[in-house]
Amino acid sequence: MTDPAARFKAHAAEAAVEAVRSGMAVGLGTGSTAIFATRRIGERLAAGELRDVVGYATSDETRRAAEGLGIPLLAPELDRRLDLTIDGADEVDPALNLIKGGGGAHLREKIVAQASDRELIVVDETKLSPRLGTHHALPLEVLEFGWASQARYVESLGSTVSVRMRADGERYRTDQDNLVLDATFGPIDDPAALADRLAARAGIVAHGLFLGLASEVLVAGPGGVRRLTPP
Ligand code: A5P
Repeated sequence: MTDPAARFKAHAAEAAVEAVRSGMAVGLGTGSTAIFATRRIGERLAAGELRDVVGYATSDETRRAAEGLGIPLLAPELDRRLDLTIDGADEVDPALNLIKGGGGAHLREKIVAQASDRELIVVDETKLSPRLGTHHALPLEVLEFGWASQARYVESLGSTVSVRMRADGERYRTDQDNLVLDATFGPIDDPAALADRLAARAGIVAHGLFLGLASEVLVAGPGGVRRLTPP
């Protein structure tokens, strides 16, 4: 692997997979970092290093990848807790609060994080940030019904909003067939207060603020993999 960014993502993800034990139920994250963890779990199952591991995918894309790797999957209703989830993030602040949703999967990712005993976040060090919103817009999954009124509302909270588009010029659709608004706030002073206002707004199905959900963040860079735990 020649691309250093991809190498760091792989290092962080593979270090996280060391926490997976035989018999565990494991949430499988979405994105270019988490996919390395899913692949590694598939390799360890195929090699017989792990047995009786079942996965639960955070997106249709991850589910297809897991199926291709031969990872057995739990039924969609998720009738049990997960021991562990390994997922990526777009931005990580010093308290290990996160922005997620760059890949549009943040609704399922949050459901899975909240159903997990441990949420391991894997990132390369470019994702670290002094304050959420410094580097990344905040993704919001919104119903198509009345979506422009949600865009105006989120702009009234101090952001600039764009509707996420696909490369072919069509609007991006989530796995739930909803739209995504990317709200650029700049550094967010009070993420908890913003999360409350977004959660209270009908039509916003999920926002990308993940506050107090990360159990540990594994950060990879040229010096190796560091483990951060919440303060
Ligand atoms: C998916 O919707 C996201 O939450 C991803 O977990 C996040 O965007 C990180 O993705 P990368 O690992 O591709 O940067």
